[in-house]
Amino acid sequence: MKTTMVKKKRDINHQPIGQFEETRFEKIHNVIFSDSNEASIRVAEEIAELIRKKQNQNRTCVLGLATGSSPIRVYEELVRMHKEEGLSFQNVVTFNLDEYLPMEKSNIQSYHYFMHEHLFNHIDIDPENVHIPDGTVATEDTTAYCLGYERKIKEYGGLDFQLLGIGRTGHIGFNEPGSHYNSGTRVITLDHITRVDAAPSFLGIANVPRKAITMGISTVRKAKRIILLGWGENKAEIIKKTIEGEISSQVPATYLQNHSNCTFILDTGAASELTKNKTPWLVDACEWTEELKAKAIIWLCEETGKTVLSLTDKDYNDNGMADLLSKEDSYDLNIQIFNKLQHTITGWPGGKPNADDTHRPERAEPAKKRVIIFSPHPDDDVISMGGTFDRLVEQGHEVHVIYQTSGNIAVSDTDARKFAEIAMNLNPSEKVQKIINSINNKQDSQIDSPELRRLKGDIRRSESYAATRYMGLKDAHVHFLDLPFYETGTIKKNNLSEEDIALMVDIIKQIKPHQIYAAGDLADPHGTHKVCLDAVLEALKRLKPEPFIKDCWLWLYRGAWHEWDINEIEMCVPMSPGQVLKKRNAIFCHQSQKDGVMFQGDDSREFWMRAEERNRDTANKYKDLGMSSYAAMEAFVRHKF
Ligand code: F6R
Repeated sequence: MKTTMVKKKRDINHQPIGQFEETRFEKIHNVIFSDSNEASIRVAEEIAELIRKKQNQNRTCVLGLATGSSPIRVYEELVRMHKEEGLSFQNVVTFNLDEYLPMEKSNIQSYHYFMHEHLFNHIDIDPENVHIPDGTVATEDTTAYCLGYERKIKEYGGLDFQLLGIGRTGHIGFNEPGSHYNSGTRVITLDHITRVDAAPSFLGIANVPRKAITMGISTVRKAKRIILLGWGENKAEIIKKTIEGEISSQVPATYLQNHSNCTFILDTGAASELTKNKTPWLVDACEWTEELKAKAIIWLCEETGKTVLSLTDKDYNDNGMADLLSKEDSYDLNIQIFNKLQHTITGWPGGKPNADDTHRPERAEPAKKRVIIFSPHPDDDVISMGGTFDRLVEQGHEVHVIYQTSGNIAVSDTDARKFAEIAMNLNPSEKVQKIINSINNKQDSQIDSPELRRLKGDIRRSESYAATRYMGLKDAHVHFLDLPFYETGTIKKNNLSEEDIALMVDIIKQIKPHQIYAAGDLADPHGTHKVCLDAVLEALKRLKPEPFIKDCWLWLYRGAWHEWDINEIEMCVPMSPGQVLKKRNAIFCHQSQKDGVMFQGDDSREFWMRAEERNRDTANKYKDLGMSSYAAMEAFVRHKF
């Protein structure tokens, strides 16, 4: 198997199709990096090179720019190059892809605001050279405005470079499904999925505009060079469709298959569904590691609908796994994988005392462990591992739950007002009246006052105590860090600071855990869960010299949205129907997150429903592979730090 992951600094320039690896399934050149940070730096370097080349030729460099979470790190790097390396933008002219309609420039959700905040305010570009579609154009003027935008790009000689992100609908710019190959700059109606994805930053889907102005497919296609950025598992499915699927107006990004100088820059999450990564044995001869064997055989069971122990030589041969079969006997392979799966199942997540632990996921000793459950938001502990939490407490371990962020942004004004009014009735005070007034007089998209944020955080705290008490935990074992990176009052969070890490280091040092559970969500590389995991990993790195750390194991669970693939799971904790109910009740304690929750994503089910379906699904997958049948299971992966 040829490695497709970039380890060393690598050229990301386009190689014409036919000259890069694994062309059998792929129609767009792509380069995969192990992390989006390094990838973003390489893209910024390519842009900087182009700017400098044009400077040397005394020519203007025309850049097409995107907004969204994907290009943020690229812009950060360009700003750094400007400040530290003297990269000048004096010869640069920019055209942004799109803007919501209607949208005021000063609105913090506008792309105008975004571009200035992330790039233009920090570089020496001439403001005259910045072009962003105007979200205040009157309806009757939009056609003329869009034609003018298109004309201006042409007058500058067209785009030298276009930076793109991709939406889950397959949109580039806001060219939603149905967009025509020859479309130009125009007004478009946003797809429902796009509005759902934008909902968190608008604090609810009802506030997301329905329309936008976007450059067209034809405008984008005419760029001399195109780079599309894709980060995180959330993008994996659409990236696969775009790179491997047929060209279709239903996935407008597939039009890029016809571009002669286009590269997709991906991280491993976004590239995870590509055939060369998902089922590499279908692409080329593989180096059959234990992990790859497990992945392939579990996939083979899904393909054939058989249990592991009933796979035959013919199943292997018929499904592109003849290479593995030529090296090992199918009977041995089946037994190996069956045992591997069997050994992941345990009702003793803290280790089974006085038992042989050779084939168990956790150590038997010490019999009573100190355990930390890190919960990024105040309800992830019960949503993601409520059953395991219950077992750990029941089996006598010293369990501590540590809530990393306040989660205050996800409490609605209506809920906050309810509690403020109760407080006011009990004990009228100026402070509480001020909070009620601030809710009553709030403008659209206005950031909450610090007092209101505090109240919202307190609501979530009380709910967490209700849940942890219900799980049998003492209040003294419940800790709230309120990590500062989260406390911006908006959906956009700060980067981790020393203060965040210091809080994490202190609490771990105080508890000296044998086991840590943390959220291992990588689907959204900019999301709170990922930042919280980074904080755990950084704290553990700093604590490495401490003697207790060598006996500390880190187990990762997945949040509400995804589950580990079966082949990745290293510990799977079964739940009885009673435990499923107990978990449900613990989730119910988080009342502010019930019903129309603010950050629902594209899944309209409540958190308890998603959690139950997911845990049942894991149990069913184990059963389908030939393991015992359980009501539900929670899955973990051990991270060796
Ligand atoms: C932004 C734009 C969109 C985004 C896409 C991905 O100007 O035109 O196409 O690139 O929606 O957004 P993120 O990067 O936030 O996932």
